[in-house]
Amino acid sequence: MSISAIPVISSTGLYTPPESISNAELVASYNSYADRYNAAHPDAEPLTHSSVEFIEKASGIKSRHVIDKASILDPDIMCPRMEERPNDQISVMAEIGVAACKDALQRAGRDIKDVDAILCAASNLQRAYPAMAIEIQMELGMEHGFAFDLNVACSSATFGIQTAADYIRSGNARSVLVVNPEITSGHLNWRDRDSHFIFGDVATAILVEAKDIAPAQHWEILGTRLKTQFSNNIRNNFGFLNRAHGGIEQDGPKSDKLFIQEGRKVFKEVVPMVAEMIVDHASTLGLNGADLRRLWLHQANAGMNRLIAQRVLGHEANADESPTVLDVYGNTSSAGSIIAFHLNSDDLTAGDTGLICSFGAGYSAGTVFVRKVG
Ligand code: COA
Repeated sequence: MSISAIPVISSTGLYTPPESISNAELVASYNSYADRYNAAHPDAEPLTHSSVEFIEKASGIKSRHVIDKASILDPDIMCPRMEERPNDQISVMAEIGVAACKDALQRAGRDIKDVDAILCAASNLQRAYPAMAIEIQMELGMEHGFAFDLNVACSSATFGIQTAADYIRSGNARSVLVVNPEITSGHLNWRDRDSHFIFGDVATAILVEAKDIAPAQHWEILGTRLKTQFSNNIRNNFGFLNRAHGGIEQDGPKSDKLFIQEGRKVFKEVVPMVAEMIVDHASTLGLNGADLRRLWLHQANAGMNRLIAQRVLGHEANADESPTVLDVYGNTSSAGSIIAFHLNSDDLTAGDTGLICSFGAGYSAGTVFVRKVG
């Protein structure tokens, strides 16, 4: 294998679940649950109604795709109910990951036999082991190489891209698939008014390769940077030592075995951290705001993205400079910036430079500067 190969993004892939929940459907379901809860718990603090106007104004989200709409909207269930499949059938998370990988492979004209590694990088994993990535490897028919899982919450994709790029640079691999199957509906508390509107399900994939084998049109990776800084402001305590309520029916509106956050603190602390990181990383690459044709930012909140883009570009970003997919996908955790890139990069021309950026729980953040070639 060649040493010090230049890593590039050859292609990306996307799988979007067909079902989608509008804010109106979501709020009707939540309000019906709240009414039932209040009737059943006359001595408890009553739950107040959610509202479509609040959700859209506070987050920019109008709808979200999910794998199991009916169970999520049923006020008696309010979580996805997916039949547990026998071990000889593909697991749901691997299935949507495979769909995104196939899309990326097909777009690059890449045969799976030429891929050396698969990294399943996502904010939650369906099981402890065997790794989801190894199941995806088997399903894709990749008979050599290696695969493993990694989890850095919403930053998983950029951490996966840097890891893949480092394998390419070191000569340990020439073609690496990073896949982000995000079934966020399984760790969102649909009974929590403060956050029930946030997440959506999706899968994305990124094919990172050595430049000399990449298709003529690709994205050179100019530089990657990762950052972590511990915070309890976004947390999920579900784990193998404390299983209660994780991803299954919960009895109440607050469960620390599902996603919980201090949304205001996240907003206030993460915006300056990420903006500073982007500006600093750009300057070490000899870039400034004016050099950046487009920002593909993590899709958590429209207000956060507006502020980060403004600090990086030096002016209020328009939709062309900082595209949004949050409105129809919701927050898709690690996949958000990759969907934004996937759907909004074909129109750029050779020499255009942009930034893929993620941020989220940990805290964690990742920046990947790319330049179009071909
Ligand atoms: N419907 C109607 N009103 C609601 C509501 C809902 N679903 N949820 C909260 N509210 C109310 C609150 O009760 C509160 O009312 P009050 O002022 O009378 O007390 C008011 O709206 C403001 O609530 P708050 O939680 O402070 O909202 P916010 O303006 O901070 O917006 C977030 C909430 C979550 C959208 C916002 O904080 C955010 O996006 N933060 C960053 C989150 C993020 O990116 N997380 C990362 C995950 S990766």
